[in-house]
Amino acid sequence: MNEIEDIKNRLDLVEIAKEYMTVRPAGRNLKALCPLHSEKTPSLMISVDKQIWRCFGCGEGGDMFTLIEKMEGVDFYEALKILAEKAGVELRRDEGYKKYKKQQGLAIDINTLAAMFYHKSFLVSKSGQLAREYIRKRGLDDKIIEKFLIGYAPDMWDALTNFLLKRGYTNDQIVKAGLGSYTKRGNVVDRFRQRVMFPIANNRGKIVGFTGRVLREEDNPKYLNTPATKIFDKSRIWYGFGFAKDSIRQQKEVIVCEGQMDVIACHQFGFLNSVCSSGTAISTSQLKLLKRICDRVLLAFDNDGAGIRSGYRLTGMALEAGLSVKVVDLGDFKDPDEMIRSDFDKWQQSVDQAKGFVDYFLQAMDSKSSEVKDKSKLAGEIIPLIGQVPDEVEKGYYLSLLAEKLRVDEQFVIEKFNKRQKESRKIFLREEESGKISAEERLTALLMAFFGQLRHKIMSLQVDFFSGSIKEIIQMLQKKAIEKVGFKWEWITEGIDKDALDRWNSMVMKVENDYEHYDLEAVAVEIEMLMDRIESDRNESGKQILEDQIKQAETQGDREKVKDYIRRLQDLIIKGK
Ligand code: UTP
Ligand code: MN
Repeated sequence: MNEIEDIKNRLDLVEIAKEYMTVRPAGRNLKALCPLHSEKTPSLMISVDKQIWRCFGCGEGGDMFTLIEKMEGVDFYEALKILAEKAGVELRRDEGYKKYKKQQGLAIDINTLAAMFYHKSFLVSKSGQLAREYIRKRGLDDKIIEKFLIGYAPDMWDALTNFLLKRGYTNDQIVKAGLGSYTKRGNVVDRFRQRVMFPIANNRGKIVGFTGRVLREEDNPKYLNTPATKIFDKSRIWYGFGFAKDSIRQQKEVIVCEGQMDVIACHQFGFLNSVCSSGTAISTSQLKLLKRICDRVLLAFDNDGAGIRSGYRLTGMALEAGLSVKVVDLGDFKDPDEMIRSDFDKWQQSVDQAKGFVDYFLQAMDSKSSEVKDKSKLAGEIIPLIGQVPDEVEKGYYLSLLAEKLRVDEQFVIEKFNKRQKESRKIFLREEESGKISAEERLTALLMAFFGQLRHKIMSLQVDFFSGSIKEIIQMLQKKAIEKVGFKWEWITEGIDKDALDRWNSMVMKVENDYEHYDLEAVAVEIEMLMDRIESDRNESGKQILEDQIKQAETQGDREKVKDYIRRLQDLIIKGK
């Protein structure tokens, strides 16, 4: 697609990035604190010449389009639109795009129409009587029913399907919109039957799906959701977000509940900054969306074991995303819906005096768990959360609070905390050293990054020293080194997939950063050291293999083989010295 190239040529990734972060020069690259996760030392790198970015903290990266996707929480086509506008490029809208947008638009139209159908059926249909009574009993007033477009799916196989067919939509379109399914005979039947319907809007307020609640408690499942469709991705949607976002922005705070009925109760009683996820575990992308418009999460999950567990998980993720977390104490009420409707003042007070998460989880885990937990175990559960708190002072405060609450010596808590921090750091180091970038990859990336200066070195390498795809790359670099041309990414792009290319891109960026202050001589020394490392790594794994083979031959009683392997092992050991 030429439009993409055109946009890339007209715009500068650096200028775009500056709208989201403060960038600092770092050698040939730029560095910034990554806005996608919370950190204190910058690990997001931007390559000016290659126009790509990567965060070595959270692993996200890509070009200017992915940057917009991540920062704005939009899909590729939307990012394309945003950047095209910025660049003044008119999109020709190729067929794929047109088709995609058309299908999306169509699915939204169908869902919107369905919401109207269900809503009308709730308000006026005879069979909707039960639903109306139920919703009244739950305390919803006319205004809130209208606002959230509460609906009713009749107890029929094809009420909605027939309605939509009459409006000119096809079976296929109805199924693709998530509202019906095919029977064996090829007919379409309604997905939702005899349920109270809650339309779900995406974050821009368009209706993209539903959740439907049973009217009789004995029916199953209690809530039925729209399946994943082109427009309905539960992991990106907050129920109520369209109504809540202004208030969340103003108050810098969001109330996160577990269920639709809780959110509706909040909105009915003036707590306009409340949202919930739709029956799924909350995702990082949902939290990133919140982080862009507020600073704090007020957790208002159900007051039971499951609610506490999901709250615990959400707290860790929210802290990780750089949000602070407080918890609304529900007292003896089972959920926010019940509390707001039965004791408004108490709810108001609980919101105003929301608890720090440390106090809350200590208390909740202690009282809600069947076993009496020992202090060490409790500390062990809270400490990982404290470890996620970005602010050092706050961290210290929570640790002393934890000691105070557990009535143990602060030193005990601090020691436990430090031990845990050390353990997690060890894992990080191990990953850094072995898993993420091998010595062979690091060396190759170094050769790419300093290609111009290292031409002679590259020409002198023994190609057979390398293996697999790296060998091919080295061969190619040698050929190019002889031609005396500057390094070009096109050399690499041939014959490898996008993921592999991304990986090389980011490895090159990483070494450019790591060796930023090295002069050519120091780089040459590093190359020698890496070659040694590759060789010794190989020896190590070779030794391991031989040792295993020796053991195996011994158990088989094959003396000849044992001797042969031992000789080879000795060779390796001598070579390694
Ligand atoms: P709850 O079972 O806590 O529902 O599920 P609730 O909000 O208290 O509902 P009421 O008050 O009994 O009507 C919380 C949320 O989990 C999702 C729904 O989004 C629900 O609002 N859920 C629950 C499902 O998706 N499927 C289910 O079967 C149950
Ligand atoms: Mn409830």
